[in-house]
Amino acid sequence: MTSISSLGSVIEIGTLNTSSFPSIINAYSKANIIIVVDENTHDLCLEYLITNFPDLERAEIILLPNGEENKVMEVCMQVWNAFSEYGFGRGDLVINLGGGMVSDMGGFLASVFKRGMNFINVPTTLLGMVDAAIGGKNGIDLGPYKNQLGTINNPKGVFVDTSFLNTLPEKEFYNGYAEMLKYGLIKDTSLFEVLKDFKKEADFHRLDIIERCIRIKVAISDNDPYEKGERKLLNFGHTIGHAIEGYFLAKNPVDHGYAVGLGMCAEAYISMLRGLLSKDSFQRIQALLAKTYPIINFSNQDIDGMIALMYNDKKNESGKIYSVLLSDIGAATYHNELSEKEIFDSFHHLSMLSTSLN
Ligand SMILES: NC(=O)c1ccc[n+]([C@@H]2O[C@H](COP(=O)([O-])OP(=O)(O)OC[C@H]3O[C@@H](n4cnc5c(N)ncnc54)[C@H](O)[C@@H]3O)[C@@H](O)[C@H]2O)c1
Repeated sequence: MTSISSLGSVIEIGTLNTSSFPSIINAYSKANIIIVVDENTHDLCLEYLITNFPDLERAEIILLPNGEENKVMEVCMQVWNAFSEYGFGRGDLVINLGGGMVSDMGGFLASVFKRGMNFINVPTTLLGMVDAAIGGKNGIDLGPYKNQLGTINNPKGVFVDTSFLNTLPEKEFYNGYAEMLKYGLIKDTSLFEVLKDFKKEADFHRLDIIERCIRIKVAISDNDPYEKGERKLLNFGHTIGHAIEGYFLAKNPVDHGYAVGLGMCAEAYISMLRGLLSKDSFQRIQALLAKTYPIINFSNQDIDGMIALMYNDKKNESGKIYSVLLSDIGAATYHNELSEKEIFDSFHHLSMLSTSLN
């Protein structure tokens, strides 16, 4: 069992049975315990939890509908009404059992209800384990704008047990993989080199690599929990990625990691256009991302729509669009203002790439 402390909370990596999870459950033996799940984690993950911890049989289960389109206020209102009817209070415990959608929304539900209930995250997707469950950002979307409503509030604990990955569909590993590549690209060249050779499913279960990613996220977010500076680095690929995800959400949804994969390719392209990143490094990054994430052929109308979304993204200020750019594989800078032309060119580049790959 590896234990990492992060701003008053603990992140434990290993099996739930050997972690401090059972003692947390014990500590709430006289309180209500609420387990938040979505439809898939209800069917595929809840039984493992309850079989291993029979005390949880008494827990109230809050079932969220699956998917990003449900990470919205309307669903929160229904859950808060249920919390209120059950009489839950600040002394109770919320367990978020799911991927990033469940931990983002469950963390927000718990943080806001009665000004803050205790919560812990048990991530069940690779993306949740290496990223979403860690660092205290909770929130929901507002129309096409990602994570516009939220809190920064660390869970009491995060318990990373890779047994949950046994039921994860293959495509979901690539959602987590995008965020793992991001850590390599912004901070750790040798991590990128290991990740680029990932081929089989067992690679994605590697605890050493999962731990390495978590340590990068914790080091950055603990230094700058409110994203005044260095934490912005974690947004690499997300200025453009969030616009892709938000724009297509109501039409033809693109998963978070897949959108970030394309966003990283576009932002690496802009880094190269500016002469910050060498052509050779860009080609290596593009080759990996283009073979992993399906490239979209964007129309001019799509590009206009995505640029309009970027202006309202919370990462941007005073009517300007900012992004993280790479100066090397493993080195990045934040707070780079992008021009509309650069963004246009990067989308056109992706579109041309999609044509040449087909
Ligand atoms: N808070 C943060 O710091 C942060 C960081 C990165 C991403 N995010 C957010 O995370 C979300 C994406 O997370 P995600 O990719 O985990 O999505 P998700 O939670 O929607 O999970 C993806 C799919 O996998 C299913 N699933 C979950 N666990 C499973 C399991 N063990 N077996 C089978 N199926 C399972 C889910 O039901 C869902 O259908 C986005 O909303 C994104 O904005 C947040």
